[in-house]
Amino acid sequence: MHPIKPLDKLPPKREKVETLKILRQLSKSSKALGELKGIAQTMPNQEMLINAVVLQEAKDSSEIENIITTQDELYKALNTKTKQAPQVKEVINYRKAIFLGHNLLKKQGFLRLKDIELLQKTIIENNAGIRSMAGTVLKNDKTGEVVYVPPQEKSEILDLLSNFLEHFNLNQDDVPPLINLAILHYQFESIHPFYDGNGRTGRILNILYLIINKLLDIPILYLSSYINENKADYYRLLNKVNTSNDWEAYILYILKAIEIMATRTIDKINSINNLLSKTIEIVQNEAPKIYRKELIELLFEHPYSKIEYVVQKLNVERKAASRYLKALEKIGIITSEKIGRETIYINKILIDILKIH
Ligand SMILES: Nc1ncnc2c1ncn2[C@@H]1O[C@H](COP(=O)(O)OP(=O)(O)OP(=O)(O)O)[C@@H](O)[C@H]1O
Ligand SMILES: [Mg+2]
Repeated sequence: MHPIKPLDKLPPKREKVETLKILRQLSKSSKALGELKGIAQTMPNQEMLINAVVLQEAKDSSEIENIITTQDELYKALNTKTKQAPQVKEVINYRKAIFLGHNLLKKQGFLRLKDIELLQKTIIENNAGIRSMAGTVLKNDKTGEVVYVPPQEKSEILDLLSNFLEHFNLNQDDVPPLINLAILHYQFESIHPFYDGNGRTGRILNILYLIINKLLDIPILYLSSYINENKADYYRLLNKVNTSNDWEAYILYILKAIEIMATRTIDKINSINNLLSKTIEIVQNEAPKIYRKELIELLFEHPYSKIEYVVQKLNVERKAASRYLKALEKIGIITSEKIGRETIYINKILIDILKIH
């Protein structure tokens, strides 16, 4: 039997989404997120932080869709001219879509339907747009059983999306924003407006929603690695909202994910900061002649670095840039690797920190 209960418009009934359990978890999640926002603001180099965290998210979110790649492949794809495997390309596209969404928000402060279409198009690299043919259903990965039938008519999809956007751009009902994030994510996934890429587009919308609501200034909180670790629950709990309007467990799941991921990201930022200070100290002591603060920062902005990056950032000649990198390699700060005709210099300890989820 197909569960074909039509999807309700937002908002859901308040008593369903603001239970005591939810409010208790909300205060923990908000606290962790507040700390993350504060700590990110104290980072001297925001670019570095975004670069590092976004790439990890691109990898994790794509992994939910079984697109598996490694950090190493990704950095090589971003920094060298090697040919990209299709799965690497998808992850790079996901990263591009995050930056694109963030820039749109910086420019206009809200999202339009065509912006969401652009995000999905960037991820999937085709022009299919909003679904126009009936037939899309959600199946259980393992059993193949149909678990949910999203709206089939294009007019209904568009109507639901416009209701979604009203609530995304303006929190009209005064629901706490983190609860609303969970509700919006469910709603977007259940509208399932595209043939493919709904999960990834929806997970980018989550981070953009945090920024719209000023809960973060930069895109650095991602739930994908938590979802990967608890994937069966993610699908099961989304489905419980479809079938029995059971919001509580699903919202608790998302709030918990926010708390855990905020805490992990705080730890990660602290580790990066410690490594940065330690690296500066070592270079000042062991290679004082070549010490430049911007040079060290570069190795953190680009954990896979190249001579030409140094040339650009420090405004020096290639010869000098090469000498700096070689000196840093000699004291063990970076490790060089030849790829094709290019040499890259890898900040391996940083890479290890970034890998920890
Ligand atoms: N029962 C359900 N109700 C609503 N949404 C669901 C349900 N089950 C899964 N989903 C959502 O559908 C997404 C998968 O849709 P789709 O394949 O279009 O997206 P994707 O980005 O290609 O995949 P993935 O999310 O696996 O990376 C899931 O990530 C989840 O967010
Ligand atoms: Mg898919």
